[in-house]
Amino acid sequence: MLMQEGKAITFTSNLPNTLAASEEDSAILEILGGQRLSGHVTISGAKNSALVLMAGALLCPQECRLRNVPSLVDVGRMGEILRALGVKLERQGDCLTLNASSIGESRAPYELVSQLRASFFVIGPLLARLGVARVPLPGGCAIGARPVDLHVRGLQAMGAEVQIDHGMVNAYVRGASKRLKGAKIYLDYPSVGATETLMMAATLADGETIIENAAQEPEVADLANFCRAMGAKIWGAGTNTITISGVPSLYSTDYSIIPDRIEAGTFLVAGAITCSEISLSPVVPDHLTAVIAKLQAVGAQVITEAPHRLRLIPSDRNRATDIETLPYPGFPTDMQAQFMALLALSEGNSVITETVFENRLRHVAELNRMGANIRLKGCNAIIQGVPMLSGAPVVATDLRASAALVLAGLAANGKTTIQGLHHLDRGYEQLETKLQKLGARLQRVKVSSDSSKDPALKT
Ligand code: UD1
Repeated sequence: MLMQEGKAITFTSNLPNTLAASEEDSAILEILGGQRLSGHVTISGAKNSALVLMAGALLCPQECRLRNVPSLVDVGRMGEILRALGVKLERQGDCLTLNASSIGESRAPYELVSQLRASFFVIGPLLARLGVARVPLPGGCAIGARPVDLHVRGLQAMGAEVQIDHGMVNAYVRGASKRLKGAKIYLDYPSVGATETLMMAATLADGETIIENAAQEPEVADLANFCRAMGAKIWGAGTNTITISGVPSLYSTDYSIIPDRIEAGTFLVAGAITCSEISLSPVVPDHLTAVIAKLQAVGAQVITEAPHRLRLIPSDRNRATDIETLPYPGFPTDMQAQFMALLALSEGNSVITETVFENRLRHVAELNRMGANIRLKGCNAIIQGVPMLSGAPVVATDLRASAALVLAGLAANGKTTIQGLHHLDRGYEQLETKLQKLGARLQRVKVSSDSSKDPALKT
């Protein structure tokens, strides 16, 4: 068992991932680096699909069932928001039943929306279903300002009146029918959330909607497939032009969410950074094309063993490579931090350019505390590979940054302790358990309230 030197700790490695953030703030993750990993990892359902499909269930006046729903804090939060709107939810294992037959409320509560940006996406289905929606502006978050102007402009193009007062987006549709109207919408940027909001809104609109310069992410296609399973008419999801022909209403369905490509990518990097051979399933290899290409550029091999199973064969010495984050099918911003940890330990100089979010490089300072040599110049991180990282106390600043620190900790010499685990629990189901099964030495420890006040624990 790992010990926090000289501090009182309680071992709580089996904490569920749905603990309240405040409790998780007092826990830390201890990692003893340098272990080789081996074996197989089971990949959970995609967080970002689960969140938007849950919002999509608002479109349906009958019960819907979602399968392969990961058990995550963010999923729990989205459930609370839907419950506040009048949706009945029941969870059994990875199966979530949602019944939005009688939505009693068009106003999403601020306390909940402010904790989960994706919850803003309920504005599309609410407006389509009720002709009115009141959703607080989600505000900025750890990785950037993240405005919602594209969502709002698209809804206006479909005939919605939108006023923003006191931080609340009030949207409604004039006229007796309260139905949105199909429109041709060009998105200035292929925003995932705006594409999803507008696609959901258009499923019940009068006439045809065309979204140009749409996001092509697999989660957008997953949402379209879910809506089609409920009777929506949608073509072209997964390309940059999506056409939706509105229907009067949708019906019940039973739908299974795609595997999480970011969780899969994170485990592939875990194999590469620890020079370990591992396999994973289920995955959709096509969703990981850019990630696999960069792993190959670093020197690893990624083999498709079966249609939904990948094997990573690492290189003994990883090489530098440059990465630019882009909308799909470009390299995902959600994998940028994890590759930063890998490139920090790769031979040569790499440049990572973050183009999607303006403030998503805060893990650089933490990786440097572990001995990495990374300089920041605007949205570029210039990484000079070092032969070894050394374990250190670090603080997670956002979800994927936390994953990067875990990866760095797995490869580092000695012990790493990570604070700020509420970020990690937003997006990785059973991360510690999955890594432990691969042979990693890590565990979550609850720091007693006295020792958590001890400045020696702070970084
Ligand atoms: C989604 C994902 C997130 C991922 C991101 C980009 C979910 C729940 N989250 O977030 O994990 O990192 O896609 O792949 O699916 N923007 C605007 N105006 C808007 C909307 C977006 O300027 O109205 C900007 C954002 O500030 C950001 C960029 O567009 O700079 C991309 O954002 P977007 O694609 O909308 O990301 P999300 O849907 O928020």
